[in-house]
Amino acid sequence: MADNDRVRVAVLGASGYTGGELIRLLLGHPNVELTHLSSERHSGETIASVLPGIRNHPAAAKLRFAPLESYDEVDVAFACLPTGALPPLMPKLSERAGRVINLAGDFRLTDSEEATRHYPGSAEWTDAFSYFVPEFSPPPGDSRFLNLPGCMAVASLYALQPLMAADLADGDVVVEAKTGASGGGNKSTEPPAERIGNFRVHKPYGHRHAPEISQALRTFAGRAPRLRFSTFSLDVSRGILVSAYGLLRPDVTRLDVKRAYGVAYAHTPFVKARSQLKTPADFPMLKSVIGSNMAEVAVAVRGDQYVAVTAIDNLIKGAAGQAVQAFNLVQGYEQSTALPFTAVTP
Ligand SMILES: NC(=O)c1ccc[n+]([C@@H]2O[C@H](COP(=O)([O-])OP(=O)(O)OC[C@H]3O[C@@H](n4cnc5c(N)ncnc54)[C@H](OP(=O)(O)O)[C@@H]3O)[C@@H](O)[C@H]2O)c1
Repeated sequence: MADNDRVRVAVLGASGYTGGELIRLLLGHPNVELTHLSSERHSGETIASVLPGIRNHPAAAKLRFAPLESYDEVDVAFACLPTGALPPLMPKLSERAGRVINLAGDFRLTDSEEATRHYPGSAEWTDAFSYFVPEFSPPPGDSRFLNLPGCMAVASLYALQPLMAADLADGDVVVEAKTGASGGGNKSTEPPAERIGNFRVHKPYGHRHAPEISQALRTFAGRAPRLRFSTFSLDVSRGILVSAYGLLRPDVTRLDVKRAYGVAYAHTPFVKARSQLKTPADFPMLKSVIGSNMAEVAVAVRGDQYVAVTAIDNLIKGAAGQAVQAFNLVQGYEQSTALPFTAVTP
């Protein structure tokens, strides 16, 4: 522990989009002292000079980036590195950090074939990591190593979990995930002129979040449908809207479905099921979640068909906010500490 019972926290990959968002949230956390913020490109520079959204915070002129390898012992290290960068660091990091919370995908998949295809180089440490989704698993207090879910995967999971857990759906599910530009990190090579005013396919098949959704549904709902998962690039900087389409089992009613979502999200402060769906604006939408740690979920039923929808801010509920929520739970703090419930709108 650091002074005043604050935990010493490192953010590895702190100059990126998720790392910067994590710093923003943790600067407001009463139990955290940020002791190491890594960036190779910006080593020695203040966070105020690199992260414009943070530069007016009183601490921003004093906190500096340092090379990744220069960290001292810390209580908790958040890893916001590109996929593949963390596994080779684990032998040393496991000795110097009491707990590691990984935002990248490295240790999410347990099926060795899928893991090798999507996350080569992760095998040695995968068993040591717990895949943690705050709403569906108890805080793995004993686990030193947590891997958080993918942003599009978790939005899809929130949409489908109640249907699957209550065994209300029949057959295949088609999931479309539309995501904003910050999902690709701050080194995306896509020219703004090609994103602005556009809406296009990202990956029609083969996205690595597809096996993660199936695995998570098997784990948390006890069953996974055959999934068709496609992703799309939206012209917004933040936000994910997922829609999942499928058929209900015979004799399942709208009320059964409504009840399943109500039960699943009755006690989840950061995932809300919307039940009054009278107008399109009642459905989950980006403007209701951007800037917050909220996931909004709704399901519309007509006859034997359903459309389940989730909206999240990819950098908060899909990444840094989820990480703070997980941190709060495993450290024994109030789960909402330093997390915003309200969105930035218009
Ligand atoms: N963006 C999202 O919406 C989102 C959501 C959920 C999960 N994630 C996952 O979170 C991770 C970070 O995403 P991001 O969007 O924040 O990426 P990003 O904006 O590209 O930031 C990457 C960070 O890692 C550092 N870095 C890059 N290569 C490195 C290396 N080889 N060794 C050490 N540090 C290195 C960069 O520091 P320098 O200053 O040195 O370049 C930067 O701080 C990714 O694995 C991503 O899949 C992202």
